[in-house]
Amino acid sequence: MKQGTTTLCFILSFCFQECALSKSINGQQKWPVPYRRFDHRPETDPYCQALYPFCPTGDRDGRVPYMRDTDSIEVFRLQAPVWEFKYGDLLGKIHIMHDAIGFRSTETERNYTMEWYELFQLGNCTFPHLRPELNAPFWCNQGAACFFEGIDDVHWMQNGTLEKVGRMTGAQFNELAKWVQYDNETGIFYETWTVRADPNPNSTVWFESYDCSQFVHRTYKKIAEMGVDLVSKTQTNYTKIYLFSGEPSYLGNDSTIFGQSSMKTLAAEIKNFYHSFRPHQSPQDFILSLFEIFEKVVLEKNFYLFYNFEYWHLPMKPPYIQITYEEIPLP
Ligand SMILES: *[C@@H]1O[C@H](CO)[C@@H](O)[C@H](O)[C@H]1NC(C)=O
Ligand SMILES: *[C@@H]1O[C@H](CO)[C@@H](O)[C@H](O)[C@H]1NC(C)=O
Ligand SMILES: *[C@@H]1O[C@H](CO)[C@@H](O)[C@H](O)[C@H]1NC(C)=O
Ligand SMILES: *[C@@H]1O[C@H](CO)[C@@H](O)[C@H](O)[C@H]1NC(C)=O
Ligand SMILES: *[C@@H]1O[C@H](CO)[C@@H](O)[C@H](O)[C@H]1NC(C)=O
Ligand SMILES: *[C@@H]1O[C@H](CO)[C@@H](O)[C@H](O)[C@H]1NC(C)=O
Ligand SMILES: *[C@@H]1O[C@H](CO)[C@@H](O)[C@H](O)[C@H]1NC(C)=O
Repeated sequence: MKQGTTTLCFILSFCFQECALSKSINGQQKWPVPYRRFDHRPETDPYCQALYPFCPTGDRDGRVPYMRDTDSIEVFRLQAPVWEFKYGDLLGKIHIMHDAIGFRSTETERNYTMEWYELFQLGNCTFPHLRPELNAPFWCNQGAACFFEGIDDVHWMQNGTLEKVGRMTGAQFNELAKWVQYDNETGIFYETWTVRADPNPNSTVWFESYDCSQFVHRTYKKIAEMGVDLVSKTQTNYTKIYLFSGEPSYLGNDSTIFGQSSMKTLAAEIKNFYHSFRPHQSPQDFILSLFEIFEKVVLEKNFYLFYNFEYWHLPMKPPYIQITYEEIPLP
């Protein structure tokens, strides 16, 4: 067992050097690795089937209602524990929260909720499917924006937050709507993990997550850039799911890793890494998998991160994984 691991480490470290070398030819790697934008959102693969339909009450084509330029639109900060409406507040206690933004038109008195989330749930965005007929792990990891009429006050207020944080004009809202559609078309995959060098807030961030709270931060930033003041009376905390590692090394994409026999060992190692973590139906299963991944990572100190549809090796170090609920101020 020990012997096998040592041999594997040797083969892998050889490969990492090679790969790192080929990547660094273009000069210094930029950290955090920029999230890749696409020119349009591709159709989802029919293999990915949502257990719960995405955005059931939103407009099918993602249209956002047009507001009169002179309208005054209130902006709300919305936060509630993930799935808590279904499973009690277990996840609320460890602060896995979902974030959204609310809007209310003064002229029409209609209100709206805008959020960004996984098309096929968190488990599918965090762990791939190992399909026997395919060489490479298969990811159902798209995320998207959902805009729909109504704000469910009870849902947000009872175990979370519903707070007015600002006011914008109808013209500003219409500009924001265009930006959201652009952001939604070009930012297509969900990323659960934030990867950094250590828990010190000043440490290097290797990869940023791309999730519901990042969408909310981008939107607030856009609103602030339009000259709107955003103010909260309470601390604005958000969930972050961290991995801690030394400097990551680039491994390759599906075709370079899983399409070449020379990379067979690495391909097998990545599949083996993901083998025990199959996508899950329930949040309890997801939390169990986080514990499993924690054990595996502590023992082997390896993590294979999938980011921008490419694989990276993370040389993991203590405290390995952390879920925090920390303050990120409004812009
Ligand atoms: C995750 O993806 C699989 C494969 O498409 C699907 O069967 C399952 O329903 C998805 N899980 C959820 C919770 O949507
Ligand atoms: C974002 O894209 C998804 C997937 O194509 C779509 O269902 C949704 O309506 C879009 N949302 C917005 C606000 O454009
Ligand atoms: C949103 O509209 C619904 C339906 O009119 C109303 O019950 C609710 O209180 C409104 N919420 C906010 C935050 O404006
Ligand atoms: C808030 O949490 C309590 C306690 O877990 C739960 O019974 C209640 O249904 C939750 N409320 C909402 C609106 O989800
Ligand atoms: C982080 O950097 C800031 C500014 O350089 C400094 O004031 C602060 O003490 C640092 N924090 C830690 C924990 O090192
Ligand atoms: C995978 O990487 C190779 C080498 O960098 C590149 O030529 C190829 O276009 C990439 N494939 C995809 C699907 O991005
Ligand atoms: C919110 O974040 C701050 C600073 O990051 C932290 O001190 C505080 O305990 C957090 N609040 C909760 C309820 O976790």
